Amino acid sequence: MQSLAGLRAVLTGGATGIGRATALALADAGAEVAILDIDVQSAELTCRQIADKGGTAFTIAASVSDSASVDAAFSTLDARWGRLDLLVNNAGVSGNRAALEIDDTEWQRVMGINLNGVFFCARAAGRRMVARGQGAIVNVGSIYSLVAAPERLSYCVSKAAVAMLTKTLAIEWASKGVRVNCVAPGYVQTPLLEALDSEGRIDLAALRQRTPQQRLGTPEDIAQSVVYLCEPRGAHITGQVLAVDGGWSAYGYI
Ligand SMILES: NC(=O)c1ccc[n+]([C@@H]2O[C@H](COP(=O)([O-])OP(=O)(O)OC[C@H]3O[C@@H](n4cnc5c(N)ncnc54)[C@H](O)[C@@H]3O)[C@@H](O)[C@H]2O)c1
Repeated sequence: MQSLAGLRAVLTGGATGIGRATALALADAGAEVAILDIDVQSAELTCRQIADKGGTAFTIAASVSDSASVDAAFSTLDARWGRLDLLVNNAGVSGNRAALEIDDTEWQRVMGINLNGVFFCARAAGRRMVARGQGAIVNVGSIYSLVAAPERLSYCVSKAAVAMLTKTLAIEWASKGVRVNCVAPGYVQTPLLEALDSEGRIDLAALRQRTPQQRLGTPEDIAQSVVYLCEPRGAHITGQVLAVDGGWSAYGYI
């Protein structure tokens, strides 16, 4: 028996990385998946991978940082599905700059996608889920939802805000049957991370060593935790920020 059989899930940023792995995992668990992404071509590839395994997925072109685009995407889903069970807010971008080098455009770019995008999608999904009295939302935060790092001000602030958005929506909607949780990945081997490594902005070897499990996360590690928080066996879990980081955020020694 598939744990999410018959459920309808919207996932943002499913074209690559953690989002693609999560789309595949949701579909493996039986959910029908709608991917909202700006990169339609790559998102279509995710859909084909799901279809090859016997699942159902489709893409809707939308930018999460544009509330009109998000609302239009959810209206499209209303017409197609008529009901929505799950939302995974995964789309996100990095923001690796020294605080004094962040101009207005850069600040708004990171906040627009990482924070406004999560709010716009949660609001659109919440309207539908609260009206039905059921649903689950999982936001993808970061270890930087929990702790700080230098030269990442916009990223850290946006992801810390996602953790608080998670808790606030969770307590507001708990009595309405809607759960809201956050998965906080540590460093995960994805195109985003590889790009930062090749630009010399991070040191993957040092990060591996800094992680108690001595390895980076995989997209599948994150995907499985998202699925768990969506499943009925997570029915009493809401308002939580779950670090999935190989012990990285628990570690406080040298
Ligand atoms: N990779 C890591 O090490 C890591 C660690 C912690 C948290 N995260 C978080 O996990 C999430 C996914 O990260 P990833 O590494 O898979 O990134 P990625 O760059 O591989 O994928 C990001 C996805 O978001 C989509 N996207 C970007 N802007 C968008 C927009 N405006 N509207 C809709 N879609 C948009 C991209 O097209 C892509 O599909 C992000 O929220 C990221 O902050 C990643």
